[in-house]
Amino acid sequence: MAALLLCVYFLLGVMCGEATGQEQVCETCPGSLRHSSQVSRLCRETPGAKSHARCCLRLINDRHVIIGLDLWNCSLSHLDPSLTLSPAALVLDLSSNPLQDLPSEFFRGLLGLQYIALPATLGCPGGNDSWENVTVTSTVRECRDQRSTCNGTAEWVLCPENAVCSPDGPGYTQCLCETGFHGYKCLREGSFPILMFFGILGLVTACLSVLLWCTQRRKVKSQ
Ligand SMILES: *[C@@H]1O[C@H](CO)[C@@H](O)[C@H](O)[C@H]1NC(C)=O
Ligand SMILES: *[C@@H]1O[C@H](CO)[C@@H](O)[C@H](O)[C@H]1NC(C)=O
Ligand SMILES: *[C@@H]1O[C@H](CO)[C@@H](O)[C@H](O)[C@H]1NC(C)=O
Ligand SMILES: *[C@@H]1O[C@H](CO)[C@@H](O)[C@H](O)[C@H]1NC(C)=O
Repeated sequence: MAALLLCVYFLLGVMCGEATGQEQVCETCPGSLRHSSQVSRLCRETPGAKSHARCCLRLINDRHVIIGLDLWNCSLSHLDPSLTLSPAALVLDLSSNPLQDLPSEFFRGLLGLQYIALPATLGCPGGNDSWENVTVTSTVRECRDQRSTCNGTAEWVLCPENAVCSPDGPGYTQCLCETGFHGYKCLREGSFPILMFFGILGLVTACLSVLLWCTQRRKVKSQ
């Protein structure tokens, strides 16, 4: 068990190392936060938050996490597919960019988003129903206060009997099995120790893979 914990700790450590790469996102284009922007406001109003290039960062579990990202006027015609945000992200500004569309799964899991500014040609992610307040000017569309689409839409009906609908970002939902149920359509009842067995097995395999991947990659890099 101790070895397992160590491994999990190691995995998290590796992810942290990778997260420093996330800060490159903040330097996607030159300039710093505009004083009047929502991201800059977020940074002023959030205790412990600090701004870095185009980001507002906050220390969460000893990691700097992007809670606000302002890529305003960055000449972006598409978003880099490797750009990912965490559920801790609250504010995103992509306005004044010639964006044609956004990667389809970009917003999945982004439960924390409270404000998005987009070029007026793009719709709010998940549609108007996923937001409390949508405003459009000739250039900017602003989507404010994310709304759960679990309530009041057909999605609600789609969850199986022993599952509850749970929000998973703007326009996204997931069905979570109720306690005591698991498996396909949450039809299996009772505990299932084999599941835990395979879970641990999978975790150990994942740890080893990451370890190998990292060591091999470092070698490649140092060549
Ligand atoms: C937008 O970006 C362009 C190119 O980086 C720059 O020349 C221009 O001044 C920026 N616009 C504003 C209003 O800052
Ligand atoms: C939507 O948000 C804007 C900007 O904060 C505000 O002026 C407007 O009154 C809001 N509309 C509704 C219906 O709440
Ligand atoms: C979404 O809301 C905006 C602002 O109220 C409106 O202009 C637009 O037509 C709406 N879009 C849809 C698909 O209803
Ligand atoms: C779901 O919708 C119903 C009716 O529209 C409303 O009374 C209820 O408060 C809503 N629940 C949540 C969690 O939003």
